[in-house]
Amino acid sequence: MDKVIIAIDGFASTGKSTLAKKLSQHLGLPYVDSGALFRGITFWVLKNGWVSDDNLNELAIEKGLDNLNIFFDSVTNILSVNGIDVTEAIRSKEVSAQVSQIAKLSFVRSFLLNQQRQMSLRAGLVMDGRDIGTVVFPNADFKFFFTAKPEVRAQRRLEEMEASGHQANFADVLKNILDRDRIDSQRKISPLKKAADAIEINTSELSLEQAFDLLIAKINTK
Ligand code: CDP
Repeated sequence: MDKVIIAIDGFASTGKSTLAKKLSQHLGLPYVDSGALFRGITFWVLKNGWVSDDNLNELAIEKGLDNLNIFFDSVTNILSVNGIDVTEAIRSKEVSAQVSQIAKLSFVRSFLLNQQRQMSLRAGLVMDGRDIGTVVFPNADFKFFFTAKPEVRAQRRLEEMEASGHQANFADVLKNILDRDRIDSQRKISPLKKAADAIEINTSELSLEQAFDLLIAKINTK
């Protein structure tokens, strides 16, 4: 496919990234995980001590962005922050706990918006996130919106975290997912919501293969 843009949005842990990656490989398009970019900024903010539960140093973050270099490699899917590979580190509980607060900041979103749009120019792409079909690429060729029952999502995320060596328990993971859904849906700028022309996919009862077949069928029949 030539310069095609596919936007995949939806709630936390609905399988967006796994399916977006699989789709990109199938179609020969680059893949970009926009959530990884927000997580990367959050990791860098935490490292600099600019966020705690009751305090966010917005001024320091905004100034710091002038010197921040964040790069998602659409082939290897490695995320680098100022030249350091943070692909694993951005999946920590600490990052998950703060990312939605950081993603609310207008200057963080505009910093990433340019970068996200630039990434599509060379060859099109598959990008997953929260506002890809509504704000980043409102003219995307295909738009999908993923949902699933919270308990199913929490169980899948828990298994993913355990497999990659992160300690977690079901109740904490479920709470984090619901907290992020709420903050992401309620924020003023680019809230999580289904684009009017997006196709909704509920992955609660679907295996990875079934969800993938459904996406391909929708793409082929458009
Ligand atoms: O993988 P999961 O669905 O749990 O989340 P993610 O895609 O890694 O995104 C982490 C967080 O980044 C979200 O909860 C949002 O707060 C933020 N985000 C956003 O605001 N806009 C995007 N396009 C992507 C992520």
